[in-house]
Amino acid sequence: MMTIQVKNVSRLCHAKPIVTVNGMYPGPTLYVQEGDRVLVNVTNHAKYNISIHWHGLRQLHNGWADGPAYITQCPIKTGNSYVYDFNVTEQRGTLWWHAHIFWLRATVHGAIVIMPKQGTPFPFPQPYQETNIILGEWWNNDIEELVKQGNKLGLPPNASNAHTINGKPGPLFPSYEKHTFAMEVEQGKTYLLRIINAAIDDELFFAIAGHNMTVVEIDAVYTKPFSTNAILIGPGQTTNVLVQATKAPNRYFMAARPFMDAPLPIDNKTATAILQYKGVPTTVLPTLPLLPAPNDTAFALSYNAKLRSLNTPQYPANVPQQVDRHLFYTIGLGKNPCPTCLNGTKVTASLNNISFMMPQIGLLQAYYFNITGVFRTDFPDKPPIPFNYTGAPLTANLVTNLGTRVSKIAFNSTVELVLQDTNLLIVESHPFHLHGYNFFVVGTGIGNFDPKKDLAKFNLVDPPERNTVGVPTGGWTAIRFRADNPGVWFMHCHLELHTSWGLKTAFVVEDGKGPDQTVLPPPKDLPPC
Ligand code: C2O
Repeated sequence: MMTIQVKNVSRLCHAKPIVTVNGMYPGPTLYVQEGDRVLVNVTNHAKYNISIHWHGLRQLHNGWADGPAYITQCPIKTGNSYVYDFNVTEQRGTLWWHAHIFWLRATVHGAIVIMPKQGTPFPFPQPYQETNIILGEWWNNDIEELVKQGNKLGLPPNASNAHTINGKPGPLFPSYEKHTFAMEVEQGKTYLLRIINAAIDDELFFAIAGHNMTVVEIDAVYTKPFSTNAILIGPGQTTNVLVQATKAPNRYFMAARPFMDAPLPIDNKTATAILQYKGVPTTVLPTLPLLPAPNDTAFALSYNAKLRSLNTPQYPANVPQQVDRHLFYTIGLGKNPCPTCLNGTKVTASLNNISFMMPQIGLLQAYYFNITGVFRTDFPDKPPIPFNYTGAPLTANLVTNLGTRVSKIAFNSTVELVLQDTNLLIVESHPFHLHGYNFFVVGTGIGNFDPKKDLAKFNLVDPPERNTVGVPTGGWTAIRFRADNPGVWFMHCHLELHTSWGLKTAFVVEDGKGPDQTVLPPPKDLPPC
């Protein structure tokens, strides 16, 4: 049962009403087990329309429970409710849920913990205890208001007032006494940290002073374990690490700070929490960990290169070796051509020069009930004109079209998608999330993707399998997946700023026999538009 309700919350000496689930910030953890059928009744008592997305859950044949507003459902209006009804199929690990409309996920989010099937141990040492670590952001002002004002100026807010760990900014900020998260550990024991990046607009580094972490899982997929002094985690991503409390009993800071290589004012506000050894007085001053510098691209590249699927007989990496459909999408940030949009000066974002316009009804309904005029299925497989993507921008490359355009993908075909960042206007890395799927990150690089030399370097054996991947600044990332989940699936940059500028599209996956043959029928209480 999730009740969407407004609650007064105070951080950094600022109190404000925020939208919450059950009055909690961050929201409650959803504990489920692999194979479970889950029913979550969401009742909306806030003034905003809402929908909830279960980020990373496959929702096989069941887009109705996926949650993105105007993609798979119309929002749940104030006073109404909707039951999300879904199965947890062959997934285990850490995921998260969040509001999927406007910027409400800033405060409406929480962890999803999927326990493996009864009697199936973790493929790593059994931890003594576990803790969720949700990284987020806090704004002193009402975020929806800030976005509204920002949109008028063409620039919604990029920088929050603080980063947070489990909703708390920690002692480097004012009024911290009550607002510091602490995790108590016993010397000699091993702990599992389920780390979630719920931040709105920042990729984050996370580290614990004096303690290495062993990465064992990303996006609810087991990895080959490796030890690291810091992790990099993009919005939407999750990372499970083991931490051994083997240091001298003391108090150690955990800290999170953005990785941000855009030429913007560096938003380097560090959130801290405390790793508290049992018995150490709370008056002892903790030490800060060394975090990579905010522009440490070398760390980011080498960290990402260490991520590998576990790829054992029990947890195989079924990487598509052959590709049926090649897609190449350029990521562009440019000027909005819409004449009423501040005389064409409003910033926009696009894939293959198309900036996605949200429809008025859910794409999945339009598809399932064959309602015409809602979307077009002619999204191009490649950019209109090939150019030097990471070189100087030409005016022709800045032309952006607005449209609700998606790609049709044949059911069960194998897809390779290369996401190519470009040098248009703002250079920034982009965490891309695909709904309804996990994909394999088979390659990534800096500069222009060049099939002649880059294909040979693809990892088709044990690449990381995930649902959200960073496309590096001035570079590219290639993913592969089998289109085994029919329906309509959203794909977007998980930086809310960029999503709101149109950096999104969707895939319609179908077998040609009609949606009613492959997609489950819609639930009776599906919110009306
Ligand atoms: Cu985590 Cu479309 O979102």
